[in-house]
Formats: sequence, C-alpha cells, structure tokens
Amino acid sequence: MTTTPSVNSPTKRESPVAGIDRLTASSGHTAIVGLQWGDEGKGKIVDLLAPHFDLVVRYNGGANAGHSVQVGKERYALHLIPSGILSREKINVLGNGVVIDPNKLLEEIDGLRKRGVHVAGDNLRISDRAHVVLPYHKSQDALMEAAVSHGRSDSNKIGTTGRGIGPCYADKALRSTAVRMGDLLDPRKLEERLAHIVPIKNVTLAALAQSCDQSFEPFDPRKLAEEFAEYGKKLKEHVTDASHLLHESMAHHKRLLFEGANATLLDIDHGTYPYVTSSNCSSLGVHTGTGVPGHKVTSILGVVKAYQTRVGGGPMPTELHDEVGNRIRERGHEYGTTTGRPRRCGHLDLMALKYAARLSGATGICLMLLDVLAGFETLKVCTGYRHNGQTLDHYPGDADVLAAVEPIYQEVPGFGDEITACKNFADLPAKARAYIELIEQHAGVSVKVISVGPARDQTIVR
Ligand code: GDP
Ligand code: IMO
Ligand code: MG
Repeated sequence: MTTTPSVNSPTKRESPVAGIDRLTASSGHTAIVGLQWGDEGKGKIVDLLAPHFDLVVRYNGGANAGHSVQVGKERYALHLIPSGILSREKINVLGNGVVIDPNKLLEEIDGLRKRGVHVAGDNLRISDRAHVVLPYHKSQDALMEAAVSHGRSDSNKIGTTGRGIGPCYADKALRSTAVRMGDLLDPRKLEERLAHIVPIKNVTLAALAQSCDQSFEPFDPRKLAEEFAEYGKKLKEHVTDASHLLHESMAHHKRLLFEGANATLLDIDHGTYPYVTSSNCSSLGVHTGTGVPGHKVTSILGVVKAYQTRVGGGPMPTELHDEVGNRIRERGHEYGTTTGRPRRCGHLDLMALKYAARLSGATGICLMLLDVLAGFETLKVCTGYRHNGQTLDHYPGDADVLAAVEPIYQEVPGFGDEITACKNFADLPAKARAYIELIEQHAGVSVKVISVGPARDQTIVR
C-alpha cells in the first residue's frame, strides 16, 4: 500500500530562496516580530525561515492573529498554530503567554489535517500554563465594546477581534477566575473551578448587558465543564511543560524560532494604549511568554510593510481616506485574515518604525509587500510629527497626542515597473532601492529581506 506524503512530510520542499542559509547561519535563537499594527507578513517570514530551525514557538496572543502563508497555489490561514506547522519535522510550540480557545484550536488542527498537513502530539506542543479562552470571555469582549460606546455619538471602541482576548488576559491577571490548559486535563478540578467562576461571570455579564440594553443568556457551569473536559481529552497528547521542553531543546543545541502575533505598536505596555491588544507582542514578550531568558535570543527580525495599515480603532497619523489609500488596499488585498474587515491604509510611518525597531531591539528588517507600491509616481513617508507647533523628538505615549499630531512628510520618487519577478536586490529599480535605503536610515536597522509577493520564492535576501 502506498501512502500520500503529508504537506509537511520529510519528502516535501526545501527552502527555495537563495541567501536564506546565509541569513540564518550566523543567527542564534531568532524572534520574528511585527513592527507596525499587525499583518506585516510575519507568517510568510516564519514559514520561510522555519526549515532552518528546530522549534517554532508562539509567545503571545491568541486567535486574534491571522497569519497567511502561501505554498504554491495553496493558501493557509493560521490563527493559533505556529506557521512552522507547514515545514517538515519541526516542533511547534504554543508558549505559556498564548491564550487558547480550544474549540478554535481543534478546528484549526482539523482543517490542516484535512488538507494533508500532519498535526499530532509529536509536532504540536502546548504549554500547560497557557490560559484558556472560554465562551464568557467572548461575550464579555462583545459586551464591553457595546457598553463603552452605548449612548455616545463618538465611538471609543477598541475595535477588538471579538475573540475574547482581553477578558482572558484580564482573568489571568485576576488569578482567581482563570483556567489554564493543564486544568482541562483534570475533569473534577475543572468542574470545581467552573462551579466557582461561572456564577461570578454570569452576575458581571448580566450587569454589563443591562448597561447597554442587551440581552444575556447565563452560562451553565456544568455544561461548560463537560464541553471543556472533552477538549482536554482531545488535546491531552499536546499539553506539556513547554518551558522545560524549550530549555531541554536549547541544552541539546536545538534552534528556536519565535513567532510573534499582533505587533509592537499593539503591545499592551508600549503600544498605542489603550488601542492595543492585551499581551506583550513586542519582542519583550518572548521571555515571559515562553520562559526563555533575554540573552538567549540574539537575532530579532522586525517585519515591516512598505506602507502602513491598521485594523480596529485608535490613532493612525498617516491614514489616507483617498484614492491612494484605496489603491494600496486593493493592490495589497488589505482585508483582515481573521475578521475580514477592510484594513485602514496609509503612508509608511518612519517615526513609528524608529520607535518600534528600537523597542523590539530589531537586528534586521524584513520589508514586505514592496510590490504593492509599484506604479505610484511619487511616494510619501512620514519622518516626524508636529504637535502644537512643536516637532516631537520621540514617539508619544498618549493616544490623544498621537491622534492630534500632524505628520511631517518627505516625498520621494515612486517606481513604475512591477517588481514581483525580481530575485536580487540589483534587479529592483533604482528608485525602489533608494526607498529601502531611506527606511534603513530612519529605522537605524538594515533591511535584510525584501518581499515582492506572497509566494515563498518572491523573496530577496540581501
Ligand atoms: P501576518 O499577520 O503578519 O502574518 O500577516 P497577514 O498574513 O495577516 O497579512 C499579510 C498578507 O500579505 C498575507 O495575505 C500574505 O500572503 C501577503 N503577503 C506577504 N508578503 C507579501 C508581499 O511581499 N507582497 C504581497 N503582495 N503580499 C504579501
Ligand atoms: P496578526 O498576528 C492586526 C488589533 C485588533 C484591535 C486590537 C485589539 O495577524 O498581525 P484584540 O482582539 O486583540 O483585543 O483587539 O488589536 N489586532 C490586530 N490587528 N493584526 C493582528 O494580528 C491583530 N491582533 C489584534 O484589530 O484593534
Ligand atoms: Mg494577520
């Protein structure tokens, strides 16, 4: 009997991009981190680099992430599972810093298996300390958004993905109302915990619903305990002490690749608060989110779009509401992988990039979607902000200030020709190369990878 090899089986694929070996040969454990407001193309970069590492590790976020990877004609949208799942013999890890909706995770596993991707206990490991997203977190997420905007003409909604992320991390910080992956493996303990937590949630959510004239159906702790114990049974083969696994792997000279979800400007502490997500999605979160200490991660690749996008609420100084913005959205297919929402598009913000690159300690930049900018006669980049007549000398921490700044633009010549077939830096039009060099000057970091299309081989390594 012959068996069809799975997509990520040892008989499939070697890295198709010249220079990737050089890029990864000298780097130690490496983190891939978004330097804008998400959707920079982190999934593509992780997929490309994964063959050169042994473990691929998510350290933050949950099913709010949507990482698209194109393999030949096939497209995969990954939300919780690391993009390393599409590479042969890699161990993929969900660290303690990730918040997991088990139902969504099982759906994702099932979807991948149906497409011939091997996913099992040997290549997907889940931290027993990762927190669990329960249905009441999703209700709370939606009700909070409704409550803060109820009866107001201005919306101060965060514009969340509705995946229960904020409420789950809030329970993690509260401790007494939290459930971790390890708890799902012990049905008696889970039932006891939910018997104590769910009544508190029901009271809180009923009051929240009342505040914005919404209806609310209370949760049944027993039913939830049964449902989640069932998930526990199905996921048992994956659950482990992930931090121990990572330390043992490092002791055996295995190489780790960390996959950031969300992005630096959405970091709970250092992003454009309160219009952020609820985890440390900058590279600073790698350490708390996996248990791997700071000095171990020596290479940090910041992933940056050639322009700016944002989904959800919050200030975006370079946002465009004109034909240029629409053209970027259509050429870049700028619609969310997770929620399908149209992304807000604008000129590249180098003031924000300089801040994010420094904060995340980027040692190199992967510049993505440069092809989207082909055909514009001129391009504008924001090199600074003016506020109340003064030029700001650093990125503001107050979202109201950020909303009020006036961007200072530099206009540069655009590049006319399509660049999707370029294989080397020298193949790029001189004006595209000048645009890249301008980014390097402002960010203070070299652009090491340039992406000119979604496919694996549409990548230039410098
Ligand atoms: P992530 O969340 O950072 O992984 O990014 P997303 O997957 O949400 O969004 C990036 C989108 O751009 C995906 O649809 C990718 O397939 C696509 N993409 C990545 N790199 C390029 C590129 O260089 N050019 C174009 N045109 N698309 C790209
Ligand atoms: P990836 O990994 C883009 C945004 C949401 C919202 C805010 C808070 O695909 O780059 P949350 O549901 O996390 O409480 O929403 O953060 N957001 C993202 N935007 N890409 C993401 O992930 C995002 N994850 C969260 O749109 O504005
Ligand atoms: Mg995304």
